[in-house]
Amino acid sequence: MEKKIFSGVQPTGNLHLGNYLGAIKNFVDLNNDTKNECIFCVVDLHAITVSQNPKELKSSIHETVATFVASGIDPQKSIIFNQSKVSAHSEAAWILSCVAKMGWLNRMTQFKEKAGKDKEKANIGLYSYPVLMAADILLYDSTHVPVGDDQKQHLELCRDIAQKFNNDFEIENFFIIPEPLIKKGFSRIMSLKDGLKKMSKSEVSDLSRINLTDDKDQIANKIKKAKTDTLPLPSTIEELEKRPEAKNLMGIYSSLTNNTFRKSIDEFAGKNFSEFKEKLSDIVINEINPISMKIKELLEDKVFLEKILKDGCEKANEIASKKVKKIHEILGF
Ligand code: TYM
Repeated sequence: MEKKIFSGVQPTGNLHLGNYLGAIKNFVDLNNDTKNECIFCVVDLHAITVSQNPKELKSSIHETVATFVASGIDPQKSIIFNQSKVSAHSEAAWILSCVAKMGWLNRMTQFKEKAGKDKEKANIGLYSYPVLMAADILLYDSTHVPVGDDQKQHLELCRDIAQKFNNDFEIENFFIIPEPLIKKGFSRIMSLKDGLKKMSKSEVSDLSRINLTDDKDQIANKIKKAKTDTLPLPSTIEELEKRPEAKNLMGIYSSLTNNTFRKSIDEFAGKNFSEFKEKLSDIVINEINPISMKIKELLEDKVFLEKILKDGCEKANEIASKKVKKIHEILGF
């Protein structure tokens, strides 16, 4: 069956190894399968749910496009565009916000984390963010959505919204109920400084993440300084489960070598972290350095990046505006 793939990445700077292994690497594999139709969106409307410097936002949009292309997404084959330029997204988000229930949104753990203690001061966009995400996905009749583990709950909400709309207006399959594509085992890359915290763009310490723009020395240094425990590497999965930092580094290694955890454990059981880290460093550099060099090269050619966005927006707009037209008819507008 032909898959319709949709996914989005926020242009908020510092794209990192977690974004790559949890999402972008899968985008590339999906793009390479000729049977798939893929759409990858730079979700700039989502980015403004936290305050952004307009100049930096513009360059982060370019950087996100450059990262997609440098990682191997072919803009001739996949649609790459930015959300704000296809107005159907904002419009569908409003309409779907009249379908989604407050009770559903109240359960979203990411809002609770991001809003912190004082929810009264959080902006409404941060709260309704998953509804905009549902609009993104549903406008394109997407069948599959590749994401990291942290987006799982938002996708479940998207499925609920789609289902409710179809039921309310009694049109079976008007919105396609999308399936999440989450890479088992490697969908949550953790901070290099704390194996219990997710690797994140917004973490203050740059040592906590490997940025996709880091050079060889930066990568080697970050892996050298990554937190570990004092024991040699474990020989069983049960033992690894109890050691979050070891598990995270082993996960990164396994993901990049396309190995199972089992195989990586067999390779390093009883060895010291220093030996393992040297190997890990080589593997990460091998994968990320060519991407980082290509990103820098692409960022020199803003005309090329703008052209990708412009072409992508035209194609996305054609699909999304047709869906919005049908929504209008259904609603009686
Ligand atoms: P964003 O921009 O926070 O992250 C982009 C993608 O990277 C994944 N990711 C991770 N995966 C593994 N380990 C990590 N430490 C890690 N950190 C981030 C995310 O799961 C995501 O797949 N709301 C989304 C963007 C979005 C979207 C959409 C996604 C908007 N509309 C429609 C899919 C479909 C977000 O903020 O991702």
